Amino acid sequence: MATIIEPESDFSALPDLPPEVYTAPLKRPPHLGEDWLEPKQTEYSVDEDAIWDDLFARQMEVLPGRAATAFLQGLEKLDLAHGGVPEFGKMSEDLGALTGWSVVPVPMLIPDHVFFWHLANRRFPAGNFIRTRETFDYIQEPDVFHDVFGHVPMLTDPVYADYMQEYGRAGWKAMRHNRLKALGALYWYTVEFGLLMEEGALRAYGAGILSGPTEIVFALEAKSPNRIMLNVDRVMRTDYVIDDLQPTYFVIESFEDLYHQTVERDFDRLYRSLSPAFTYANSAIIDVDDVLHRGTQEYLQRGGRGSGAAPV
Ligand SMILES: [Fe+2]
Repeated sequence: MATIIEPESDFSALPDLPPEVYTAPLKRPPHLGEDWLEPKQTEYSVDEDAIWDDLFARQMEVLPGRAATAFLQGLEKLDLAHGGVPEFGKMSEDLGALTGWSVVPVPMLIPDHVFFWHLANRRFPAGNFIRTRETFDYIQEPDVFHDVFGHVPMLTDPVYADYMQEYGRAGWKAMRHNRLKALGALYWYTVEFGLLMEEGALRAYGAGILSGPTEIVFALEAKSPNRIMLNVDRVMRTDYVIDDLQPTYFVIESFEDLYHQTVERDFDRLYRSLSPAFTYANSAIIDVDDVLHRGTQEYLQRGGRGSGAAPV
């Protein structure tokens, strides 16, 4: 079957991109090689370590009982509560022993094909810098807190760890089929904003939810957003919001469910059937949906972020 990756793919070396494949024109800092990796992690100041500790403490007020068990266990397995920004070398040793992943420092968002290449080799690129007190509540560019606190604990789960590698391996095929936008929607609605049904209760496993104080309560408990069981075809046709709370969240039954739904799919056929633009609005409910909660969309209708609307 034509699956999510090209059968002949070799992920050992960074690929030369064919000229017809589009990549965002990011300017590589002159001291970095083609892998975009920093030679070493930043040395953080006392104030920066204190920002990490305060962000960590704030999250721990809201995460117990709301974050997926795999995430909370991951925090413990990697000893991420020990104070200050974690040291990537030590964290990678612990993570490597569990699932073979490592965490590598990058200066900023990196080009898609480089990001995919690192994931395909079980390396998670994490932003090197940490936000300031001024941007404590919200930053657009992912920093070390979002990347390490939000993403890395989940990589201690063996099935999730495999999913992330397959996602990286899938990236090049999506680029060659000009379907990166659709694959990006899958990442958004799973890796960043995914919910999980765990013993009859909803929990969050997406890093975008887990690394901030507001969205986890909104995603799990508010009346506004839709909550729909994940269907990969449908999700890959669905628009999303990048700078506000999501109008819709998609729920998986288990990480095995996510892995199998994604990896065991005929992506050639799927890619052929997708249109270049998204088919469904981010707040839409369609006939095939298995709906857990039909949202009121009150938050969105009152104007969302910046309007003063309560996230209800
Ligand atoms: Fe992220």
